[in-house]
Amino acid sequence: MASIVVSLSPASMADAPSVRHHLKENTKVKTNDSSSFLRGGYGNAFVKSKSFSRFSMVAAVNVSHFEGISMAPPDPILGVSEAFRASTNEMKLNLGVGAYRTEELQPYVLNVVEKAEMLMLERGENKEYLPIEGLAAFNKVTAELLFGVDNPVIKQQRVATVQSLSGTGSLRLAAALIERYFPGAKVLISSPSWGNHKNIFNDARVPWSEYRYYDPKTVGLDFEGMIADIKAAPEGSFILLHGCAHNPTGIDPTPEQWENIADVVQEKNHIPFFDVAYQGFASGSLDADASSVRLFAARGMELMVAQSYSKNLGLYAERIGAINVVCPSADAAARVKSQLKRLARPMYSNPPVHGARIVANVVGEPDLFNEWRKEMEMMAGRIKSVRQKLYDSLTAKDQSGKDWSFILKQIGMFSYTGLNKSQSENMTNKWHVFMTKDGRISLAGLSSAKCEHLADAIIDSFYNVV
Ligand SMILES: Cc1ncc(COP(=O)(O)O)c(C=O)c1O
Repeated sequence: MASIVVSLSPASMADAPSVRHHLKENTKVKTNDSSSFLRGGYGNAFVKSKSFSRFSMVAAVNVSHFEGISMAPPDPILGVSEAFRASTNEMKLNLGVGAYRTEELQPYVLNVVEKAEMLMLERGENKEYLPIEGLAAFNKVTAELLFGVDNPVIKQQRVATVQSLSGTGSLRLAAALIERYFPGAKVLISSPSWGNHKNIFNDARVPWSEYRYYDPKTVGLDFEGMIADIKAAPEGSFILLHGCAHNPTGIDPTPEQWENIADVVQEKNHIPFFDVAYQGFASGSLDADASSVRLFAARGMELMVAQSYSKNLGLYAERIGAINVVCPSADAAARVKSQLKRLARPMYSNPPVHGARIVANVVGEPDLFNEWRKEMEMMAGRIKSVRQKLYDSLTAKDQSGKDWSFILKQIGMFSYTGLNKSQSENMTNKWHVFMTKDGRISLAGLSSAKCEHLADAIIDSFYNVV
């Protein structure tokens, strides 16, 4: 029996009998099984079929497939930049997205990045595909930068490193590994955490729950809550830890607290899973900012680390980072790496080369490496100086005696102000300070010149809005 597929507009469907009239009985329009023909894109809801004496007619109605899709909410972080761009107020300040700005509030391309790009041009490098695991020279230096060249995990080749699409892509690849090889295992995320963490694990279908982290009473770490929740998690859970400069709070555990966290993680046979998005950018020192990861590695633990070069090299749009899995042996590392490649292949095939070459050049050339460290110190130093100035302005303006010193205890590019949703909205609506609704401000987007304005906005929102 022949199936005839005719695409008709809803109006012409009314004329279906006249269409039939024009078709000869034995017309062979399509002889395949009509369902397989339709499978490519027409859902059954949009298909009308009619049987006539010697043939059946299947009409794919020209109804939109996409009309029924609802509007997604704007991304809570990236949506702030969109709102900022739309504002015409001259006092406007974008403290939403975590991207470094100069004192003039302009984006900054590091000198070492420009020099590394010149080197690439001089060498006349091509644009061939990278292998699935990425650029070998990048993978080597990125793991060494994280753990230290002399770390036994490096020397014994126990780290499976795969270049991926910056921090986000590296986390996503690790999430796919968890979903595939640890079905049902839970990831524990700090409360609060970087907004995308939950999305990543939701999309990878990895179950997650939260551990306590932030104590609103002290605007500090709820260390006891954190330890209790990690202890209570099912054995063998993945504990997502921010290596340094916790986002959004800017509150990091002390070295002693890190030791205690490692004790509990080890006791419960959990797997530490570090997100390192700010190495060198938090304190200005690459080694100091990697100390939490190294402390866990020194205990001989297996662990995973997602790395990003968005902030410390300002390579936001190059999407350059890596996932590192510390394994018990070189053999196991080779197997884990092979599986990470297997997961990456259908997702994005292979990673981009440009950022990988920049990192490999900067880290691999001693002169550029030293210059990078100085530029990182400069960026971290500028953030620390506006942090101090904001604190000074708040203390000078606020006569109530409130202790604002929590701002100085926080580290990295963010400060958690303790402002609630409506207070944060007041910051934007009345003072044109664009920020996320959780009270987080990115100090990397603040200049000394705007500290007074920001302090006025915070004081007004804190005292006059509930
Ligand atoms: C904690 C944390 N992890 C990961 C990322 C990922 O950034 P990217 O994908 O640009 O490397 C960010 C970015 O803000 C972050 O703050």
